[in-house]
Amino acid sequence: MQASDHNVTILAIESSCDETSAGICRDGEILSNIIASQKVHEQYGGVIPELASRAHMQHIVPVTDQALKKAGVLLTDIDAIAFTRAPGLIGSLLVGSQFAKSLSLALNKPLIPVHHMQAHVLANLISEPKPAFPFLCLTVSGGHTQIVLCRSPLDMKVIGETIDDAAGEAFDKSARLLGLPYPGGPLIDRHAATGDATRFSFPEPRIEGLDFSFSGLKTSILYFLKNAGKSHIYKEQFLASPEEQQQFINDNLADICASVQHRIISILLNKLKKAALTTGIREICLAGGVSANRGLRAAFEQLGKEQGWNTYIPAFEYCTDNAAMIAITGYYKYLAGEYISDLSVTASARSEW
Ligand code: KG4
Ligand code: ZN
Repeated sequence: MQASDHNVTILAIESSCDETSAGICRDGEILSNIIASQKVHEQYGGVIPELASRAHMQHIVPVTDQALKKAGVLLTDIDAIAFTRAPGLIGSLLVGSQFAKSLSLALNKPLIPVHHMQAHVLANLISEPKPAFPFLCLTVSGGHTQIVLCRSPLDMKVIGETIDDAAGEAFDKSARLLGLPYPGGPLIDRHAATGDATRFSFPEPRIEGLDFSFSGLKTSILYFLKNAGKSHIYKEQFLASPEEQQQFINDNLADICASVQHRIISILLNKLKKAALTTGIREICLAGGVSANRGLRAAFEQLGKEQGWNTYIPAFEYCTDNAAMIAITGYYKYLAGEYISDLSVTASARSEW
């Protein structure tokens, strides 16, 4: 049957990292988006791949069941099964892709392999108002930092990306240096809200073109803390004892968080501004888990006003990892005939588009 003469219903599965998610999209409208987060990693200060895979195995059936029930959809109503094929943790991806393939075989429905980063960008097409094409999207997550030029739903080009750490990693690693638990991004956000961002100054890296770098910032924060704020420069010996360092952090946490956050945001937005000026595009989107950051959202909107952009940020539940963004991408791929019945398709940890 052609897409035009009946509703198109997509079941989507996302399992690239530490969130197990299933969602249903009908004719471009999200009917459900169920997300099971994995708390088990908090105590280790980062995602443990083996534990993530095991948790996905426990969550995937109940999460899918809930997504179907909430949407009021039966498995037999589904036209195709979209799943995150790449990139991500290979064990996590394998759980989702094997599950999707098993459903495809059992129901005799086609599969739609989806690129996770493409889906983060298309989260901007879930709710109104939607950006007009072409648009630019700054995608900032725990694993990636990219500026994407999007000409149509399935025509995207990465025009800038990080050469080392992702923006989310910059937040999480800074938080770790401050003794905050994983994931530290939301905690830096919270402390920064009451801090003075001009109190401490961290260097902005000089990287050519539209690429980003965050590893120098991490080193600078490390030395800054080891010197209890007296110097950013590594000398033969650091200036502060461990006790002095801890006292310094305790006394200045909000100001340090605000200053670190301010620098991460300026690194991101200076490149986004450059990308907008270079391409002449004024439809500008944010995407990815870090776009939940209140400081980034406010600075992005402010820059948009100054530059005359139309700005877009997906609702919070579509910013962090979720199946709704896989479902909307699956929907556009289905309309374009980009679905397969070949069960030999395999998950990939690598991020090539
Ligand atoms: O997109 P996402 O959910 O997963 C990946 O694909 O990586 O992004 C997770 C990242 C983590 O690094 C987390 O610390 C960061 O997003 N994050 C935040 C905030 N909320 C999540 N970073 C700063 N401020 C926040 N409010
Ligand atoms: Zn993600």
